[in-house]
Amino acid sequence: MNDLSYEQLQQRVKDLEKQNRLLQKKLERSESNRQQLEDSHEIQSKLLNRIIQGLEQSRAEAEARSHELQEAFNNLQMMQATLIEYEKMSALGVLVAGIAHEINNPVNFIHGNIYYACAYVQNLVDMLSLYQKTYPEPDEQIQAKLEELEIEFVVNDLLRLLISIRNGSDRISDIVLGLRTFSRLDEAEYKKANLHDGLDSTLMLLQHRLKAHGDFPGITVIKHYGKLPSIPCFAGQLNQVFMNILVNAIDAIEERYIRQISDKNQYNPGWIKIDTSIVDTKWVRIAIADNGLGMSEQTRQKIFNPFFTTKPVGKGTGLGMAISYQIIIEKHGGKLDCFTQVAQGTEFVIHIPLSR
Ligand SMILES: Nc1ncnc2c1ncn2[C@@H]1O[C@H](COP(=O)(O)OP(=O)(O)OP(=O)(O)O)[C@@H](O)[C@H]1O
Ligand SMILES: [Mg+2]
Repeated sequence: MNDLSYEQLQQRVKDLEKQNRLLQKKLERSESNRQQLEDSHEIQSKLLNRIIQGLEQSRAEAEARSHELQEAFNNLQMMQATLIEYEKMSALGVLVAGIAHEINNPVNFIHGNIYYACAYVQNLVDMLSLYQKTYPEPDEQIQAKLEELEIEFVVNDLLRLLISIRNGSDRISDIVLGLRTFSRLDEAEYKKANLHDGLDSTLMLLQHRLKAHGDFPGITVIKHYGKLPSIPCFAGQLNQVFMNILVNAIDAIEERYIRQISDKNQYNPGWIKIDTSIVDTKWVRIAIADNGLGMSEQTRQKIFNPFFTTKPVGKGTGLGMAISYQIIIEKHGGKLDCFTQVAQGTEFVIHIPLSR
């Protein structure tokens, strides 16, 4: 370098300066490229974000729509269940009311007259014995007739016979009253009713299943009825609820009996306990408990779903509890709870408000 002349050095500096400028330009260009790249990356990532957001929104919308659809489907199922049950129950109600009405008149003849018949027969018997006392030695013809007709036996048997007819007619009258209370077609409106009458008429309709039959030893009904005022309600509908709960209780007890049939010593007799009480100024409580086979927690969670049943096809439709829930909660603004334990039993607790 020391050998370079001053001009040469100047030239060298110029060259270096030129190279420096070129490099600077290259640097600027690549900086601008980098900037461009960064900008386009930002734009792309923004675009991507917007797309993701859009997708997210669509997903949420689809989810909401599917939720709405599920809800609409559930409502439809519930409505269908209600319609089927309404139709079934109203057909049953009409049938029961019709039968009760038709039987009522002839039963009234029997029921109304049997008491007079008993009294008249008693009078005739008294009269006959008075005759016998006054004329202990009747003539031959009368004596022969007395013997032929076995009058002594007839007199005793006739009274017993009339008493059993009277008991039978009392029973038919009770049944007719029960049928009329159950159907309560005249009480489709919301008005005050005696809940104990409803429970009793329902129990009466279920007598044939509560009594011992075949091998089955029967079910004891234990009533703890509190002092209840008349409750404003749809009485016919509440009777449906009592019916559904009681039938399920009987089914559960029978099922436990069938499962324990191989070891009859192990079988505790079946019972259904009905408890009614006033909770406070607002609520009345009706609890119906059974010592049937109980339910698992999984089953318990589903019992109010329409069409949920664990019973064989043809035995259960799975509507009873769904409808009962609707009647208690929606129609009466009440509460319906279920407590249960496998192999121990089940309790349904109904709360009805004393005013709407
Ligand atoms: N007291 C009870 N003990 C045991 N299981 C019960 C009881 N009550 C209800 N269940 C269960 O709840 C299910 C649903 O009851 P729900 O009354 O709605 O329908 P179902 O009795 O099966 O049919 P149905 O429509 O004829 O009443 C029953 O199948 C049964 O498994
Ligand atoms: Mg049922």
